[in-house]
Amino acid sequence: MEFIRNAWYVAGWSSEIDQELRRFTILDDHIVLYRRQDGSVVGLEDRCPHRLLPLSKGKRIGDNIQCGYHGLTFDCSGKCVRVPGQNNLPASAYVDAYPIVERHNIVWIWMGDTEKADPSEIFDMPEFTDPAWEAHQGDALHLKSNYLNVAENLVDPAHVSFVHPTTLGNSASENVPVHVSTEGETIVAWRWIRDAEPIGFFKKFGDFKGNVDRWHYYYLHMPCTAVIDFGSAPTADAIAEEERNKGVRIFALHFMTPVTGGHTIDRWMHLRNTALGDEDAAANMDAMFRIAFAEDKAILEAVQQEEERPAKRRPLRIAIDKGPMVYRKRINELLERERIHDVASDPSPAFVYHD
Ligand code: FES
Ligand SMILES: [Fe+2]
Repeated sequence: MEFIRNAWYVAGWSSEIDQELRRFTILDDHIVLYRRQDGSVVGLEDRCPHRLLPLSKGKRIGDNIQCGYHGLTFDCSGKCVRVPGQNNLPASAYVDAYPIVERHNIVWIWMGDTEKADPSEIFDMPEFTDPAWEAHQGDALHLKSNYLNVAENLVDPAHVSFVHPTTLGNSASENVPVHVSTEGETIVAWRWIRDAEPIGFFKKFGDFKGNVDRWHYYYLHMPCTAVIDFGSAPTADAIAEEERNKGVRIFALHFMTPVTGGHTIDRWMHLRNTALGDEDAAANMDAMFRIAFAEDKAILEAVQQEEERPAKRRPLRIAIDKGPMVYRKRINELLERERIHDVASDPSPAFVYHD
């Protein structure tokens, strides 16, 4: 499977990375991640250039890694600083180093050309630091599914009525059309369900007495970050689309990390404007999210298995598929852009002179 490389991906929650040498697989690359003595995170190619032993099987010497086979030692920039038994350091004795940024207890890694890494492009939102909001990290959910299907599920508000009947959806939304638009690089799919019974989530956390107006806005930030803005307000309040902060409002964030072509990690968390400082509420919300996301996992893994079997015909597409279709188109455009760039910057081997 082809991946978009010139992008920031979530390598892990901050809590997943410490001073130990740990292997992470991202876009089919093996990477050793660890913290320097000053706490900052290092990401190096997890393969010694000598006999290919993973560096994660070596040991730390200060902030450097000493390979566990013949002792070649690499610094945090990937440069070899020691070859036991000789004084000269061969030019090819290095490993790749990945740009890393840690923010809001999330560790981001840049998987493409190092000189293009721009931390200002990392996903962020003001609610992370707004005192009217609280952020709470959930789990790292492993799915035996390619990331495209996971992402498409996260720009698809229509599935909640059928997949999550006890938590995030109910039958009131079955026939409500989905709107789709784009805001720059971001795809937005949304709908409102007015004057209906609260869904399970807001029965538990909204304390609503009667019917509510409910919204679901799915924002897909290319390539692999999804923000689901969902909430409810009493129908009697008749809130406008832009007044969502007046209701109980939750942002469910999903950071998808493609591990391999058939394996994706969805690190999910939430931001909420209700129950601030209430750890029990956060834990109870996690419990509901776990039910819902296990439902998605079951669906996506079953879809993956069918996709791997021979196709009899092209998959059917229907009106509610617009968000996923725009997503797939944009992914293909980004992949094409990277391919064209590669051809332009790397001349064909036929034109390289060898002596
Ligand atoms: S394999 Fe790493 S030093 Fe030989
Ligand atoms: Fe879902």
